Amino acid sequence: MKIYAHRGASHDFPEMTALAYESAVKQGADGFECDLRLTKDGVAILWHDADLKRRADSDAVVAETKFKKLKKIYPQILTFDEFLDFGIAEKKSLLLETKHPVPSRTEIEEVIVKKLKDEDSRIKKAGIEINVMSFSWFAIEKVKALNAELPTTFLLHDYTPWFTARYSSAQSIGPGINLLRKNPALAKRIKSTGRKLNVWTVDEAADITLCHHLGVDNLITNRPGYARQVLRNI
Ligand code: G3P
Ligand code: CA
Repeated sequence: MKIYAHRGASHDFPEMTALAYESAVKQGADGFECDLRLTKDGVAILWHDADLKRRADSDAVVAETKFKKLKKIYPQILTFDEFLDFGIAEKKSLLLETKHPVPSRTEIEEVIVKKLKDEDSRIKKAGIEINVMSFSWFAIEKVKALNAELPTTFLLHDYTPWFTARYSSAQSIGPGINLLRKNPALAKRIKSTGRKLNVWTVDEAADITLCHHLGVDNLITNRPGYARQVLRNI
């Protein structure tokens, strides 16, 4: 089971900052997870929420604000380009989650897929895996239409109907740990469709152990070092 640092080692450092990803390397993560949004001027940045309220106490909305201004409000913002460079340099695999709905619709998928194509030789040389994830069924299908070779993960909310996962073109399915805890049989159901199982956000020992026993492929956690320690002791 591979360990992905969710927004970096975000239990210990501010989410999706260089510090959080540097710490994830030190904690032995196999890869990094991040959330992606486009700024008003089309820059792909690592940001979870639609606005800057929670992290910077600002009313600025990512999709309505130019990158330069966002960077001034929250200087630790990372761009997707910087993040990809870091993943390649550290040889860490990447789970890239595109956030929806957004006013630019599936432009973020176009930007990401193009960048990954441009950087294909560096990515291959680094030997890392890159996977685009989304809760949006249509975002996943957009990625498939843009580049059928690029691995994807369809993320499940607790209320996502099973048939949407069944009809997804994604090679991996991503339920949350709450859903899997309530319904462990879901792991077998997902595996029986020939897909991989990526589970988020798994921070407690009992849940990490459960994921190990259920044959989860990729564990997404805020605490990569702790997850590594728990797995060593199973
Ligand atoms: O890795 C998937 C997980 O991050 C989805 O939830 O809200 O943390 O982006 P969220
Ligand atoms: Ca995410």
